[in-house]
Amino acid sequence: MNPYLAHRAFGGRRILVGVCGGIAAYKIAELVGLLVQAGAEVRVAMTPESTRFIAPLTFEALSGNPVASDLFGPQRAQAEGGEAHIALSDWPEAIVLAPATANVIAKLAHGLADEIVSTTVLASNAPLVLAPAMHTRMWQQAATGANIETLRQRGVSFAGPVEGRLASGEVGIGRLADSELVLRAIRDALPGVRDMAGLTVVVTAGGTREPLDPVRFIGNHSSGLMGHSLAAVAEARGARTILVTTTGMPVAAGVDRVQVETAEEMLEAVSAQVGAADLLVMAAAVADFRPRERAGTKLSKTEMPGALELEHTTDILASIPPGQARRLVKIGFAAETHDVVAHAQEKLMAKGLDMIVANDVSNPEIGMGSPDNAVTLITRTERREVGRAAKEEIADRILDAALLLLRPGDTSGSKEAAS
Ligand code: CTP
Repeated sequence: MNPYLAHRAFGGRRILVGVCGGIAAYKIAELVGLLVQAGAEVRVAMTPESTRFIAPLTFEALSGNPVASDLFGPQRAQAEGGEAHIALSDWPEAIVLAPATANVIAKLAHGLADEIVSTTVLASNAPLVLAPAMHTRMWQQAATGANIETLRQRGVSFAGPVEGRLASGEVGIGRLADSELVLRAIRDALPGVRDMAGLTVVVTAGGTREPLDPVRFIGNHSSGLMGHSLAAVAEARGARTILVTTTGMPVAAGVDRVQVETAEEMLEAVSAQVGAADLLVMAAAVADFRPRERAGTKLSKTEMPGALELEHTTDILASIPPGQARRLVKIGFAAETHDVVAHAQEKLMAKGLDMIVANDVSNPEIGMGSPDNAVTLITRTERREVGRAAKEEIADRILDAALLLLRPGDTSGSKEAAS
């Protein structure tokens, strides 16, 4: 999770981390550090067994808060207005237990409360995420499976376990999930984060390449960063997200990637996906023309024609019918060097769009290739400037506006993103 997405998910949120007694307990120091870096307020509770694997002082230093490790210890006196587990159980917006041992999973499934972590969980209504870690045979026991099923049915989320090397030296399922996976599970459990849940979003990114021969192409300067940022933010907001991209850039975890190169391939990929989509955002710089001939082998200097014969590509946005069974909201981009708004408005109407994102590419400090952008969001009824900001933040504002088009009258998306 990059810093923007991490801060977006966790900035100002209250997370309780319950550390349980497994060898992977030391890895939770990294998790707590990442949550704190992302701006979360973190409190840590530890089972007595876990303190034999890692000292409470480590978590105290990382979280900046006292650690609760003894149900009947001094924390009881410190807790404001009552017992430690009750004060602690009221506080978090989400609880994560890691490593969640077979023992704590069994206790939670049966409502047992015999130390500070299980007692706090039992007393809390906060969403619960478990990151299990145990030997493969313990994970695969029928008793553990039944306990997991019980907890799943009660709405508990799980991050992992994953396959890999175990403490015993064997390889198998039971290893603690990477911190990234655990962070994603906590993010998704936090109330209010998934304001695009239930929506399917198709985003295109990058410049298409129109080949002349196997080694040469006609292309453009689009980096694909705006489209990749849109996909990452849509996924973070809970949408099922498909990114049709020409770039080699990594995509955010959880985003489905469709790799394409030419305008024709992009058209096919988008057409195949939009039938089930609610929103199409065409951030790609699609070539308007391609060489009429594509040589099967590399053209030598002498074979190269003096002038290239070109033909038009299909306009993807204009050719997508506005919704079949479901209504499809279509958003285009207009990268212009002059008369930015007027040109964008023409495209909005000509391509039958719900919104167009206009940006001025004559300024080299923003737009193509830059991590920042500044845009004007133009719908059929409104126009809004979004000042210079990181492309992820611009993506958030575009998706706020898209949510209003998808769910007219609902302002929860923009309120949340603004907070
Ligand atoms: N677009 C598209 N298919 C194409 C070309 C463009 O879907 N063959 C989309 C782009 O992804 C973008 C929007 O249309 O979202 C506007 O692209 P732009 O290149 O600015 O528009 P054109 O119609 O090609 O106009 P121009 O003559 O300015 O190039």
